[in-house]
Amino acid sequence: MKDTIRQLIQHALASLVEDGTLPAGLTPDIQVETTKDRSHGDYASNIAMMLAKPAGMKPRDLAAKLVAALPANPQVARVDIAGPGFLNFFQDQAWLAASLDAALRDDHLGVRKAGPAQRVAVDLSSPNLAKEMHVGHLRSTIIGDAVARVLEFLGDTVIRQNHVGDWGTQFGMLLAYLEEQPVDAQAELHDLEVFYRAAKKRFDESAEFADRARELVVRLQAGDAECLRLWTRFNEISLSHCQKVYDQLGVKLTMADVKGESAYNDDLANVVDALKAKGLLTEDDGALCVFLDEFRNAEGNPLPVIVQKAGGGYLYATTDLAAMRYRHKVLHCDRVLYFVDQRQALHFQQVFEVARRAAFVPASMDLEHMGFGTMNGADGKPFKTRDGGTVKLIDLLDEAEQRAYALVKAKNPELGDDELRHIAHAVGIGAVKYADLSKHRTSDYSFNFEQMLSFEGNTAPYLLYAYTRVASIFRKLGKGFDEVGGQIVLEAPQEQALAAQLAQFGDLLNNVALKGVPHILCAYLYELAGLFSSFYEHCPILAAQTPEQQESRLKLAALTGRTLKQGLELLGLETLERM
Ligand code: ARG
Repeated sequence: MKDTIRQLIQHALASLVEDGTLPAGLTPDIQVETTKDRSHGDYASNIAMMLAKPAGMKPRDLAAKLVAALPANPQVARVDIAGPGFLNFFQDQAWLAASLDAALRDDHLGVRKAGPAQRVAVDLSSPNLAKEMHVGHLRSTIIGDAVARVLEFLGDTVIRQNHVGDWGTQFGMLLAYLEEQPVDAQAELHDLEVFYRAAKKRFDESAEFADRARELVVRLQAGDAECLRLWTRFNEISLSHCQKVYDQLGVKLTMADVKGESAYNDDLANVVDALKAKGLLTEDDGALCVFLDEFRNAEGNPLPVIVQKAGGGYLYATTDLAAMRYRHKVLHCDRVLYFVDQRQALHFQQVFEVARRAAFVPASMDLEHMGFGTMNGADGKPFKTRDGGTVKLIDLLDEAEQRAYALVKAKNPELGDDELRHIAHAVGIGAVKYADLSKHRTSDYSFNFEQMLSFEGNTAPYLLYAYTRVASIFRKLGKGFDEVGGQIVLEAPQEQALAAQLAQFGDLLNNVALKGVPHILCAYLYELAGLFSSFYEHCPILAAQTPEQQESRLKLAALTGRTLKQGLELLGLETLERM
């Protein structure tokens, strides 16, 4: 609808340019917003206020000319001029009703991608394998997963890339320690955190051990078979820990999506050669660097992107450059999205710029860092265990399920244990994910079990429960969402408000895909659930006045149910039929 209105305005502007009312050559950004108060129309645009000055007219006069020049359209019932010169568009209720009827018949709920389908690489999760996944990896994993699901739903081809840190100097220390362990004691690897700490302790205490660790890195990098065997074994164990977390979280990541840093090893020398051939490299204290004028330190000196250390070693940036080339040349991506901590923003700005200058990627390929803020504890300070250690993700998820179990059991003491566990899993994991997804990606947020498990407010339990309420209406009638006849007729204001919200699902998902912001989908679903509540309260379904009215209302309920379910699924939440 917003796009339609934009096109209508575009048309009107063109005809006002033609008759001389507006000067030629204006390219305004046409803003169309949904209105807060629906008695003033469904959508509003401030275009007349924006162009009044270049037109040399009063905004209201220009608004009147625009309204007169707007082509007729079946979706628009009327356009009013309001306040200082807003154009207020009233959606045609019959057209809206018919489009919702059509959405209900469509397995994609009438949602289409605005623009052509693309091949999109989504770089997500990407923990370092030397250690256990901790809470810091939660955000990348679930925000990336939600956006990937939305892109797929819109028809894009998504290639998930788990760019794990599986290379680097820490591996020497780990291999040296692994080598020392008798085979049956290697069970210590059940807890990578403990293993890492023990190895680090040995490294710090014994010079001999430290030397051995350094030697092993060199041998590993030279491709020594025994080193590679130990390294592979270590990574397999570490990745199996990650997979356990992914499975418990219900994110769509498998071993097949792993494309770690080590996968690019053989290409790193080529990357450096290619940069050299383009004349982009400068030697600085033996290190090979790319200096970019637009990135400077506090003293105003250009900052280097180091691609090879004095000793010959390659860096994080070098690997990212190789990965970009691969994503272009081999994966043929139109777009690459990086779900990585906001604190790496400078790194990505730099490597994107280097890749462009070196023509590793074409100008048409979009590279977007989808940064996110830090997850803090309930006290607003960095998330830590009571003794100051890092919180393992798996422990956090187990605790969420336990808390949800106690909560659901208290509410429904009569439920059997299997069902209780199933509900507790969906509610507990859903709560952790939703609490994160519902915050703006770039802000920091406090992790708070009480808040996220509350049945009130913009939370997973509230939305999961809202869905079960819709499902229960249909269960009572013994009908499925797709088994309602008749047609939608929008009369009561609550029906119209609910319908207007339902009709915006497609625009909304396109926005999530464009900006990588799942929180607007959360806000949308929360609002949808609220509008459904007031509709259900004011517009009786089972006690409707006529069979036609009942069918119309049931169809609105069915579309609400399907939209809630689809929306939650796109966020990666499992819905329940009852709870
Ligand atoms: N392993 C890195 C870390 O834990 C994140 C990697 C993100 N992806 C990338 N292409 N650099 O900080």
